[in-house]
Amino acid sequence: MNKISDLKNGKGYFELKLNQMELKSIRTIVNSHYLENLKENYPLKKHIFKKNKIQNYHKISKYIDHKKNWPMRARTLPKKKAHKFFKFNFIKELKKIFGNFKISDEYNIGHEEIYWRIVRPKQKTDVGPLHCDKWFWDLNKDFTPKGKLRVKCWISLWCKGLNGLRVYPKSQLKKFNYSYEKRDGEKKPVFDLKQKKKIKKLNCKPGTIIIFNDSLLHGGSVNNSSQTRVSIEFTMFVNKKALN
Ligand SMILES: [Fe+2]
Repeated sequence: MNKISDLKNGKGYFELKLNQMELKSIRTIVNSHYLENLKENYPLKKHIFKKNKIQNYHKISKYIDHKKNWPMRARTLPKKKAHKFFKFNFIKELKKIFGNFKISDEYNIGHEEIYWRIVRPKQKTDVGPLHCDKWFWDLNKDFTPKGKLRVKCWISLWCKGLNGLRVYPKSQLKKFNYSYEKRDGEKKPVFDLKQKKKIKKLNCKPGTIIIFNDSLLHGGSVNNSSQTRVSIEFTMFVNKKALN
């Protein structure tokens, strides 16, 4: 099966790999964004943060008001950093598969929204519930341009073994029930857990890129390793025709 049919009618996702140089560059971009935030918000502790890179965030998170300090906006790369992405080879690979595409700006920040996540070891509250990305768009304002489809790109930057993304393969072809609750000024879907699901934990070693269908049921795994998991993601608007 080719990648497009995997995405549409197959397991609902496919994988690509970052090369070592690109993995290193993206790690550097994210780590510097992370440190800039901490230095600004916790200037008196900056000597502690300097010694602990983002993958060791769990060692210093006791000094941080975690929930307050890391809303999505704080984890979204500023324009200059985001634009460094466009030179990477994996973007060219994506363009070979989908043709030209745009990256969404869901929160109207004025440029492409590329945002990272940190999940500390053994912290259940650091991961959200299972969901399909489509539900967020259906519940909130859907500004997907005409003639485009949404496809998600998730990249592992630091992750050990099966402690990354979990998915329900082929679930893009199923229908699920969900309700919603209002959190952080937004409607967030709540999956009805009684429904049957076959969850698979993916091997997300650093540099793994998972490209998945907007209707695929997925979520982050609770991190049972000893290191903070760091990932980065964005939503692509691709031409409908690319998926025909
Ligand atoms: Fe998601």
